[in-house]
Amino acid sequence: MPEISEREQWGSKLGFILAAAGSAIGLGSIWRFPYITGQYGGAAFVLVYTLLVFSIGISLMMAEIVIGRRGKLNAVGSFKALGGGAWSIVGWLGVIAAFIILSYYGVIGGWTIAYFIKSFTGLTSHSSSGQIAKTFEIFVSNAGSVIFYQVLFMAATIFVVYNGVGGGIERLCKICMPALFILMLILILRSVTLPGASKGLSFFLKPDFTKITGEVLLAALGQAFFSLSLGIGAMIIYGSYLPEDSNIPSSSAQICFLTLLISIMAGLIIFPSLFAFNMEPAAGAGLTFITLPVVFAKMPAGFLWSALFFVLFFFAALTSSVSLLEVVASYFIDNFGWKRSRATLVLGIIITIAGIPSALSQGAVPINLFGKSFLDAADFFASNLLMPLGGFFISLFLGWKIHNIAKEEINNLSENSFPLTKTWLFILQYIAPICIAIIFISGLRS
Ligand code: PFF
Repeated sequence: MPEISEREQWGSKLGFILAAAGSAIGLGSIWRFPYITGQYGGAAFVLVYTLLVFSIGISLMMAEIVIGRRGKLNAVGSFKALGGGAWSIVGWLGVIAAFIILSYYGVIGGWTIAYFIKSFTGLTSHSSSGQIAKTFEIFVSNAGSVIFYQVLFMAATIFVVYNGVGGGIERLCKICMPALFILMLILILRSVTLPGASKGLSFFLKPDFTKITGEVLLAALGQAFFSLSLGIGAMIIYGSYLPEDSNIPSSSAQICFLTLLISIMAGLIIFPSLFAFNMEPAAGAGLTFITLPVVFAKMPAGFLWSALFFVLFFFAALTSSVSLLEVVASYFIDNFGWKRSRATLVLGIIITIAGIPSALSQGAVPINLFGKSFLDAADFFASNLLMPLGGFFISLFLGWKIHNIAKEEINNLSENSFPLTKTWLFILQYIAPICIAIIFISGLRS
């Protein structure tokens, strides 16, 4: 086990925020958020999601970072160090969830590379949305190419994690996130000025409260956990590299805000153009990949915009996938003394193989589970069940077992104490576990 005092730290305060925001912002905001919003009826879903991000989401993010900074190890190790015995099962649950998520995350990550390349081979020269949808269908039905791109994406992920936490991740985030932000602003301008865009805006922004059902609540809860990288110990690991003098509440607020902002921006690009071209909001996992090229096709030099977007989208996905691999690998590094190189390579390859059924299930080979495609079933199981379950236990752990340590840890900045400490603990003790339990029950029954 590494000496605590020798644990690597982030190069700068900004380094941590960028890396944690890099973990949070990824496919979850740009790929998953729009298609789940489309499936669950639009603005009402967005409203519930937003409320969850700023209540349970932000509180749990602070909880995970506190546990990590105090425990100074990965999730399993930090739970052991702070609470002992049975609680480390929660960390274990997280390792399993991260394994499952990364298996299909690599598939969608691969799509971003494929679409980058397709930008140069006529993707945006199609004139009709039907043709662009067809291009997607043909692509996902080709077993060889979806697996090829999945392997490429996983190789990139393994490469970054292999090179360690500070170097790889921080540098990547610093360049790509601001660029992605600016590009998305430009795309919003293009999308909302398309004729017929207003129908999409009202679908996305005008809530119809009758649409809120147990199922919608569960989907929003899953999206909150997925997009903020919560419930599986990723933020525990990032917190474990955090210096003592950092301000956890303000970092967490910034990360949650940025994630929500990018998600809303993705929605503002996708829904106006979707409705402008009479496409279907409930199109499923392909939504982003079918809609965006239509927008690029309406821009001068569309292929360049498309290539630039998909390359940045790829990097956003990569800064998230590395944190998923980090969750799995650091467990083997901290607990079994594996070398980083061995852990990343061996586990990365196993996870890639485990993702193949998901890669095939989108059109090449009909592999279904519980009436969903294999990828959707894996995603539902990990995001809507395992992550909130992890969050349920993390909130109980922090709220009841280590609340005194937590109070100390959150207030250790000499210049100002955290004024909402009591509210924060109340949310973790009561609100978060009770809400998660109620949403679970109502969502799984409907
Ligand atoms: N938050 C990432 C995204 O939205 O793409 C996905 C993710 C990364 C989930 C890391 C969990 C995690 F630990």
